[in-house]
This record gives sequence, structure tokens and C-alpha cells, in this order.
Amino acid sequence: MKTTTKQHAIAAIATEALIVPVFEGHKEQRFGASDLFDAGEVSGKPLEFTLVHHPPGVEAQRVLLAGAGKSEKFDAGELRKLTGAAVRHLKSKSVKNIALALEGGWATGDYVCAAVEGAILGEFEPDRYKTGDDKKTVDSFTVAVESGGGELQRAAERGRVIAEAQNFTRALVNEPANRMTPRNIAEAAQKMASENRLECEVLDQPQMEKMGMGALLGVSQGSAEPPALVVIRYRPEKPQGRAHLGLVGKGVTFDTGGISIKPAEGMEKMKYDMAGGASMIGAMQALAQLKPSIPVTAFVPCVENMPGSRAQRPGDIVTAMSGKTIEVINTDAEGRLILADALTYARKQGCTHLVDAATLTGAIVVALGHLNVGLFANNDAMRDRVLAAAKSEGERMWPMPLEDDYKTEYLKSPFADLPNVGGRWGGAITAAMFLKEFAEETPWVHLDIAGTAWLDDGKPFLAKGPSGVSVRTLVRLATNWKD
Ligand code: BES
Ligand code: ZN
Ligand code: ZN
Repeated sequence: MKTTTKQHAIAAIATEALIVPVFEGHKEQRFGASDLFDAGEVSGKPLEFTLVHHPPGVEAQRVLLAGAGKSEKFDAGELRKLTGAAVRHLKSKSVKNIALALEGGWATGDYVCAAVEGAILGEFEPDRYKTGDDKKTVDSFTVAVESGGGELQRAAERGRVIAEAQNFTRALVNEPANRMTPRNIAEAAQKMASENRLECEVLDQPQMEKMGMGALLGVSQGSAEPPALVVIRYRPEKPQGRAHLGLVGKGVTFDTGGISIKPAEGMEKMKYDMAGGASMIGAMQALAQLKPSIPVTAFVPCVENMPGSRAQRPGDIVTAMSGKTIEVINTDAEGRLILADALTYARKQGCTHLVDAATLTGAIVVALGHLNVGLFANNDAMRDRVLAAAKSEGERMWPMPLEDDYKTEYLKSPFADLPNVGGRWGGAITAAMFLKEFAEETPWVHLDIAGTAWLDDGKPFLAKGPSGVSVRTLVRLATNWKD
């Protein structure tokens, strides 16, 4: 889909469909809408859509009156959703060329960016492997403004870069595990990196053995697929300050649970257990184009968690790269094992600040449902940075506790430094506590995206399937970084 901004009088925009936001309580008089308002057929409530053909006074073939809610509550996040839902609505009716009327005070960079994001995110479908020829697509999306110059054009460009990165992440996550093995992730990352002039290095099993990544290798040993540790480096031309951001993402291409095998029901969804890693790869694609002023390195440990004959067993003790020993109580708690070594490696590579994203625990879904990412931090300033970025991107994240008592009460092993599980209660917290042992003193935030990386039902503005959550927050975190 091609996206642009255009300076144009609303009446003169020739398009198949023009989206016009209408607000609750503001009776729209144009486009023959006043009768619809009077009849109560249009109220302006959020995401209520009314399609009018050949409305008077405009060139557009159709106007989609798009409910925007109360104007005092309307912000860029609401516009992103409105645009996404409107594009999906029109696409379902085979409309291919769409414009959005952004009038008056709404025609600012933030709104233009959000509108373009909404359109591109809304257009995505997880239907790559459907072979029918009836797939609907949108060819063009234009943000029409009455005035405004290059600044709005740049904002539209930024929106395109970010949304395409998020869709790239969604596409990676959507791939089934037979087509997205650790080596396939590495190939996809290398292709993205070379197209975007980033450096990409893939560490293989012998290299990981040499570095002593016993926690990661223990998970991988049950699969015939070899592991890969993908490292993607962005370096600014003129770095500012001393920060070096490390982005660490869980890349379990399929999680059977290993010997502690999962029940069959719903297991097919465990192809999305690499969503954290895919978020980091997507974020790097956007950063290569938006060029933040700090160095950013992504680390994606990729493994398949299988119960093969060489699989690790409950009770096995592995030695992580940091030197800590871990008793593997449950082989299904594999994400924290691979992240432990990736976090250690990221620190050794000189990262001064770390964020990890992982579909880490079912417990976070119990705690927060499918609406909020669970956010854990060992450092208040770092937590606030990520929360601020998430807020401005409309990605809901909720701070969770991370207190030492969770370690002393729950993370005890009589045989090793740490067990890989902390028992029945507070499972998302004890998992985060385990990771904290490997982030050590480096300011670090952990995002548990198990409940939010996959939409079972879809939303009016987003197809069901992979959501690409955390990509926008990570991109904003890096591009806003000052000091
Ligand atoms: N990948 C799962 C977590 C998960 C669960 C992601 C549901 C998405 C939806 C993770 O590796 C896992 O299996 N965690 C276990 C940990 C337990 C064994 C301590 C869990 O949450 O049940
Ligand atoms: Zn698991
Ligand atoms: Zn897992």
C-alpha cells in the first residue's frame, strides 16, 4: 500500500472513499450528514461507521463518516485506531484507494504519523498461506490536509517506517514453526540487515559452546534444529552520550515444553514464542531508517524447545555463561534459560541499558489478561523511560513488582545457585526475578508479552493473530533517548 500526504481542499479530493472523523455532540452538516444525525443514525461514537455514496459537495465517490468519540478525548492513539478500523471496513467492501480528511487543529505531525500507522497496521492480514485469489488489498492511503508542508510529509514517512517494521514483526511471528526455524530467523534478520545497512552476526552452536552458554544450549539440545544467536548492530554516525541500548528478545521458534511437555490443546499457538525476538528485529529495521543518536544492538537467542532423545531432563543442572548454575526443574520454563545467556552476552558486548521482550509466562496472562504488557525493572529511571515511550505509542504496559523477597522466598534450589522455576504463585514475577540475576547491575526492563503478542479475536483496527506489540515502544525509546 502506498501512503502519502496531500495538501488539498477536502471537497476537491478525488478518491474512492474519504474518511471523515465525526465527533460526538458535533453535528456534522456536510456530506448530507445532518439528516443522519437528526435521525440518530450517526452519533459520532467511537468506531461507528456510516458510508455515504456520492455525497453532495465533494469529489470523493464515497464519504465514510467515522465516529471519533468525544473531541476532548481524541488523541493520536484514537486516530490510529479510527484509521485502522476505517481502512479494514472499506477494504472489506473492496475499496482500494482511500483518503483521510485531517482538518483544522488535527493536522499535526503526531496525528499524520498515527493515521499512516493505523492504515498500514489495519491493512495487514495473516493470510499468506491462503491460496484463494479473492484476497482484498488496499492500493493507496492519502492523508489529506488543508495546509501544512514538509513537516507533515516527514511525519507520514516516519509513520510508514514504524508501521512497516511492526508488520514485518507480525509477519515473522505469523510464520509456522516449520518455516521459521532458528536458522530461518537468522536468514530473515540477515536479509533485513543487509537491505537496511545494518551489521548482522549470527553465532552458531560451536561459538556458543566456546563462550559457555550452557543455559541456552541445554534448551536447544532436544531439537534437531541447531540454535542461532542473532546479533544486529546499529551505530550512529555521531553518537551522543555514553548510552548503548541492548534489545534482547526471546526467539523460541516452537515451544513444546520439552520433556515437561505441554498439553495438545492450543499447542499450535506456540509458534508465537519468538514474538519477543521478532519485535527486536522489527524495531532494528525501523531504527536503521530513523537513525537515533545512540548505538543500539539487538540480541535474539533462537532455539526450538523439543523433547528429542537428547533433550535436557528435569533435574539437570546447567552452567550459564555468567558462571551461575541452574537446576532445570521444568523444561517448559525455557525462555528464561536462553535469555539468561543472551543478557550476559549483551552486557559483555558493552550495553549500558537493556530491554528484553519475551512471551515468558502464562502467569502474566492470569495477572493482566490480554490488555497490558507486564513490565518489570531493576531501575526506576529505566522503568519510567520505557513507560513514557509506551504511553506515547498507545501500547499499554503495567508495572509489576520485582522485590528481592520473591527471590529469597521462591527461587531456592538445594543443588544449584538457582532453580528455573519458582513454584505455583507469582509465576510472572519469579520468572522476571530469575532474569534479574543475569541483568545484574545494568539498568534493565523486562516486558512479558505472553498475553499481548497474539490476538485471538482481532480488533476492528487489527487483524487476529500477531499484534507486533512493543515494536513502537522500543523504537520511540531509542529515538527519544537523550543523555
Ligand atoms: N512460552 C511459554 C509461556 C506462554 C504461555 C506464552 C502462554 C504464551 C502463552 C513459556 O515458555 C512457558 O511455558 N512458561 C511456563 C512456565 C512454568 C513452567 C513455570 C508457564 O507459563 O506455564
Ligand atoms: Zn515453555
Ligand atoms: Zn516458551
